[in-house]
Amino acid sequence: MNLSIGWIGAGKMGEAMIERLLDGGVSVSVWNRTPEKCAALIERGATAAATPAVAAAENVVFSIVLDDSALRDLYEREDGVLSGSATVWVDCSSVSPGAAKAAAEAAAAKGVKFVSAPVSGNPGVVRAGRLIFAVSGPPAAIDSARPYFDVIGRAVHVVGDSNQASVVKICTNALLGVLMETLSEVAILGEKSGVKREALLNFINDSAVGSPFSTYKTAALVNLDFTPTFTSEAQRKDLRLALSLADEAGASMPLVFATEKEFDRLVTSGVGAGLDIASAIAQVALDSEIEITPEN
Ligand SMILES: NC(=O)c1ccc[n+]([C@@H]2O[C@H](COP(=O)([O-])OP(=O)(O)OC[C@H]3O[C@@H](n4cnc5c(N)ncnc54)[C@H](OP(=O)(O)O)[C@@H]3O)[C@@H](O)[C@H]2O)c1
Repeated sequence: MNLSIGWIGAGKMGEAMIERLLDGGVSVSVWNRTPEKCAALIERGATAAATPAVAAAENVVFSIVLDDSALRDLYEREDGVLSGSATVWVDCSSVSPGAAKAAAEAAAAKGVKFVSAPVSGNPGVVRAGRLIFAVSGPPAAIDSARPYFDVIGRAVHVVGDSNQASVVKICTNALLGVLMETLSEVAILGEKSGVKREALLNFINDSAVGSPFSTYKTAALVNLDFTPTFTSEAQRKDLRLALSLADEAGASMPLVFATEKEFDRLVTSGVGAGLDIASAIAQVALDSEIEITPEN
């Protein structure tokens, strides 16, 4: 099957997802706000689109951008995603249910079907073909997008027919933040009590409370490599989305509340600004008055 697609957003996640499409033989027309970031993709076979509308000349257009306001910019600008001829717009950004609903309404006004399809997995997970999608939207539009989901990732979870996927993603990433903070705290507690981080984390990973997440973050926590795959700022954004959704829904989230405070401090103190979420351990170490060094 000859597949082609329009793509908006070539950040860390977008770039890795487009690589999967190109490697799977899909033709990709790509637009990114900062065009230079598309250079490697174009060398690999993607076509440069001059505007979001040009990327949306394909029948199906995907996007993955930072946050609510970036998503809104995509359709509010004159040469935006809804000025093309795409009939299906699939957005994979982690945004609030309100932002997804507003994008769906703007799309519907132009006769375009909107699918909310946030993802779980970092760029390394994408490149390993292990990305999963939480998907909601009109069933026929989801069917149109399915061949692309299948090339990029490993599983599609259809969770509703409007903006429910953004709720699922927000809940998942609230848990992620709490896990990252807790892993950092126990690693420092262990070290302050005479246990090497690697020994402690290897035991946790082999126990019932270990997880794929604790396992793949272990290297970063042991070697103190905070090269960003998912930044502290993006994690803070997702914790805030969870708290704001909790407010609207009347749900109690004391742990998520406390975790947001920690990620906010991580960013504003400068300790984890622009770095991977694993840098949470550096803030906990500072607060615990212990100097940590790479173990390997
Ligand atoms: N990294 C992860 O592990 C991960 C995992 C799952 C989900 N996510 C979610 O995926 C999304 C992208 O994350 P990422 O890690 O790829 O972030 P990133 O590397 O910072 O990329 C952000 C992208 O958004 C674009 N953007 C930001 N503001 C914009 C605007 N006003 N108009 C148009 N484009 C705009 C950026 O364009 P420029 O290049 O011009 O700045 C870039 O393409 C986020 O919602 C994040 O929460 C990330």
